[in-house]
Amino acid sequence: MAERSRLAILISGRGSNMAALIYASRADDCCFEVALVSGDRPAAPGLALAEAEGIDVLKLDAKTLGPSFWTELSEALEKAEIDFIALAGFMRIIPDEFVARWEGRLVNIHPSLLPKYKGLGTYDACLAAGDIVSGATVHLVSPDLDGGEILDQVEVAVLPGDNAESLADRILIAEHQLYARVLEQYLGRTRDFDWIAGRVGQLALALPETRSKTSHGSPGWKVGSPSSDKFFAIMWNNHHGEGGIAVLVKCSGQDEMAQLIEAEPETYFRPAYYGPSDWIGIRLDRPKVDWDHVASWLRRSWLAMAPARLTKLLRAADEF
Ligand code: GRF
Repeated sequence: MAERSRLAILISGRGSNMAALIYASRADDCCFEVALVSGDRPAAPGLALAEAEGIDVLKLDAKTLGPSFWTELSEALEKAEIDFIALAGFMRIIPDEFVARWEGRLVNIHPSLLPKYKGLGTYDACLAAGDIVSGATVHLVSPDLDGGEILDQVEVAVLPGDNAESLADRILIAEHQLYARVLEQYLGRTRDFDWIAGRVGQLALALPETRSKTSHGSPGWKVGSPSSDKFFAIMWNNHHGEGGIAVLVKCSGQDEMAQLIEAEPETYFRPAYYGPSDWIGIRLDRPKVDWDHVASWLRRSWLAMAPARLTKLLRAADEF
C-alpha cells in the first residue's frame, strides 16, 4: 500500500472537524493518517476526544508559553514527521514565518463562502446581508487572514427563520464532509499518476530542446532534434506491481544503480522490464518527494542523452 501523508490537526475548542478527519482517516484507502493533534489550549475538549481515539496529543498552553509556543509546536511537528497541517477551529493568528515554513502544506476550514465574510461573525454577517446561500470553504493558509487559495467550497441554503446558531449547526454538517473530501483529493495527488506525470513534465520540458513523447504507452520526454532525439525520462506506472509510480532516468551505470538502491531502497529501484540498462527508477508516489532532487536527476539524465552541441551550451552556462 502507498505511504499515507502524516497529518497534524490544530484545534482550540470542541474539535468536531478534527473528529470528522480522524474518522475519515480510518478508511482503508484513505491517503492520510492523523499523526498528531495539538492546539493552543490544553483544556480544549477536542484534545480529550483525540486521546480517547488513540491519537498522539500534544497539550500546549499558548498563554503561558508566549512566543515559545510556536517553537515548541514546530519541534513537535518535526519530530512527528508531519507532512501536512489542518487547522480546525484553531483560534490563533499564525506568525508569517510559520506560514512560510508550511507553505502549500497548511489548510484551514472557514464557515462562509470565501471571499465573503472573512474572520469571525460569519453567520451574523450572512444573515444581515439577507443571503439565501451560505457555506464553508477549505483554503490554503497564506499570511493574509482567510485569504489563501481556495481548494473547495460547499454551499448550504439559508432557511427562513434561521438564526446564527441554526445556520452554524447546518454549516458544520457540511464542513465535516467537505474537509475530509478536500484533504483526500489534495493529499491524494501524491498518488495520482496524471498529477505526478504533469509535474515531471513541467520540469523535463523546462530543459532545452525537449519534447513529450510516449514510450510503450507511458509519458516520456526526449531531447535533441526531431530526427535524432533520445529519451531522457520516462514515467513508470506500477509495471507488473513493481516500483509504484516513478520516473526512469539515466544513471552512470550498474555500480551507481546498485549503490543507490542499497542506500535508499524506498526511493530507487531497478526497472526489470528495461533489462540491464542504465535506467534507474525514482519512486514518486510518496508524500515527501523532494522535487528539487527530481529536477536535478532530470537534468543529469538530459546531460547524458543530449547531443554535444546542447550539453556544451548548458555546461558553459553552468561555469558562467
Ligand atoms: C468551525 O465552524 C470552523 O469552520 C471554524 O471553527 C469551527 C470549529 O468547530 N474555523 P469544531 O471545533 O471543529 O467543532
